[in-house]
Amino acid sequence: MTREAILSYLTAPTADALFAEARRVRHATKGNGVFLRGLIELSSICDRNCLYCGMRHENPNVRRYAMQDDEIVACAALAAELNFGTVVLQAGECERLWTQARISQLIRRIKAETGQKITLSLGERSEADTAAWKAAGADRYLLRFETTDRSLFNRIHPGSPQTEEHPRIAQLKRMKAQGYEIGSGVMLGIPGQTLDSVVEDLLTFAELKLDMVGLGPYLKHPETPLGQSDQTSEVPVSADFTCRCYALTRLLLPNANIPSTTALSTLDPLNGRTLGLTSGANVFMPNLTPAFYREGYQIYPGKICVVAPQADSLDALKATFNELGLCQQQG
Ligand code: 5AD
Repeated sequence: MTREAILSYLTAPTADALFAEARRVRHATKGNGVFLRGLIELSSICDRNCLYCGMRHENPNVRRYAMQDDEIVACAALAAELNFGTVVLQAGECERLWTQARISQLIRRIKAETGQKITLSLGERSEADTAAWKAAGADRYLLRFETTDRSLFNRIHPGSPQTEEHPRIAQLKRMKAQGYEIGSGVMLGIPGQTLDSVVEDLLTFAELKLDMVGLGPYLKHPETPLGQSDQTSEVPVSADFTCRCYALTRLLLPNANIPSTTALSTLDPLNGRTLGLTSGANVFMPNLTPAFYREGYQIYPGKICVVAPQADSLDALKATFNELGLCQQQG
């Protein structure tokens, strides 16, 4: 697909034909299955100061917590009980807390005790760390590059190395070579983000041959520098625009796993998941973090916990799948 074609899909008055085509391709490559991945938010302690994120180090109003290893393994066991197949271990960036050895041991325990596949989402880490975790049995790594626009990336990530190559794209390439399935993605509507840069983001997903692509609207957090600025974006913060990006990603990478994200459901609590699943998405990531920790993990305000581990909310999710002719698939 050309840049011009992508740009015109993003800006056309309506996108019904695009969504229909994305559904067709999604069906051809993925059938009617939806993968559920259990998200475990290990800790809200973060050393970074990303300008958009509510969990940034300098925000004093975050309830900081860190889960114990036994609690984490218990969450993974719940994922197995619910037939999820995969758990995602995500945390604020903190190497002191999540050392190479500790994560390696957690991976081995989760594999041995629950049989779940493991996706890591622990931020920017060294080649040695990710190699050790691969050797311990990790399957996938999620690291959003957030934007291909280097000057925008540098401005909103003061803690990232200001190298010539995008540090996260460099890490994704290293991990692909190490044998990981790699996932990335961007936020849509970051102040200062341009439509041309989003076109570049989408083309970069294809260039990197990503296995998984997570896309969500940028949501203002009032206790962050970006949330307090009134700088605008050319890129709309809307469910429609987000779903156009899901659909275009599906056309560019027909086999990718594309989650309908929590940020989309937060922006549109009533229709978010249906819209996501009818514009090319095939994955859902229910939050399995214990309820008493969750309020600590507010990367943006009002983050809804799409489903709790309770059976009733999972039933509601499955009812939505049913209405759409889809069903849970283990993996
Ligand atoms: N709005 C939307 N998404 C956000 N993230 C972090 N802060 C925000 C925000 N204010 C996303 C980033 C990050 C992921 C874990 O959450 O894309 O990679």
